[in-house]
Amino acid sequence: MKDNLTTLQITDLSTPESGTSARARFAADVKKGLSQHDKQLSSRYFYDGEGSRLFQKIMHVPEYYLTSSEHDVFTTHRQTIARQMASQGDFHLIDLGAGDATKTRIILEELLEQNAAFDYVPVDISGDAMAELCENLQQALPELHSHAVVGDYFDALDWLDEHKPGRRVLLFLGSNIGNFNPEERQSFLQKVRSHMRSGDMLLVGMDLCKEPETILRAYDDAAGVTAAFNLNLLHRINRELGGNFIVEQFKHFALYNPQKGVMKSFIISQQDQEVTVQATGQTFQFKAWEAIHTENSYKFTLALAETIGQENGFEVKQVFQDKNQYFADVLYAVT
Ligand SMILES: C[S@@+](CC[C@H](N)C(=O)[O-])C[C@H]1O[C@@H](n2cnc3c(N)ncnc32)[C@H](O)[C@@H]1O
Repeated sequence: MKDNLTTLQITDLSTPESGTSARARFAADVKKGLSQHDKQLSSRYFYDGEGSRLFQKIMHVPEYYLTSSEHDVFTTHRQTIARQMASQGDFHLIDLGAGDATKTRIILEELLEQNAAFDYVPVDISGDAMAELCENLQQALPELHSHAVVGDYFDALDWLDEHKPGRRVLLFLGSNIGNFNPEERQSFLQKVRSHMRSGDMLLVGMDLCKEPETILRAYDDAAGVTAAFNLNLLHRINRELGGNFIVEQFKHFALYNPQKGVMKSFIISQQDQEVTVQATGQTFQFKAWEAIHTENSYKFTLALAETIGQENGFEVKQVFQDKNQYFADVLYAVT
């Protein structure tokens, strides 16, 4: 598998044509979301170049325990995780929503140390994030064989079926899975499972239920980085779709529901106002204190991790946790 690869490649599945359709889809989603009674914008639009940069800042915010907890999981269990991954021979390590892959690097270094036969395939919708990651990987781990894919998770998995057959270990880290509601999560896991075969593995990072205040602070930090990340959605609509949001007239608001185990983020209009978004051909009315729902971040228990695995054709092979038991990385094998 290694022989026919150069050390570093990028495949961009977002052709100029699909760029146009991506903008059209963004406009259609904004139109639909802002026309509803309960307004909403999808969290998939957080990550333009600026959104990716802001997310990197969030990962260093002291209140955002998710990154440091998963970092702790990988540092503590790196040898076992790497050994498990490599236990059944050559593989492609596919990192879905890789971002800056800071935590993945711990595993990459360990795999290289163990002389595992693998290549690394980061996948991300953000071309900026992938370009930066490739540059960093080339410098930090020049011996790594890596092939980045810019595109949506499922376009990338279709592409991989054709271009990179063979055993695969999939990563879905950072509690990205928490951004799906239970129905979306089910559909995501079923689709992922349909691209996997016997011997493949899936490692999923899950933020665990804990003291509500700790969770709340992570999504509403004192320095306002999470707020800036959320409000960047409005800036992005202004930049890409010709919107005229006066962003200062909106604010970030975060709320945790401990019964449903879900953190919800909103953008609140602080006054009556109207906003035109040229690409949608529409003007939207906002009442004072009306909310736009922008993100769900579901929290997990280990029992739930097992149940959702069983429901979607996976069995839990091993669970890795940090010292505070804030976070779990669940290694699934296909059943
Ligand atoms: C919360 S960050 C996690 C980054 C990294 N995995 C980590 O754990 O630190 C989510 C990443 O997923 C990417 N992403 C979001 N939706 C995506 C999609 N539908 N297809 C591919 N990548 C996506 C974003 O661009 C972003 O880099």
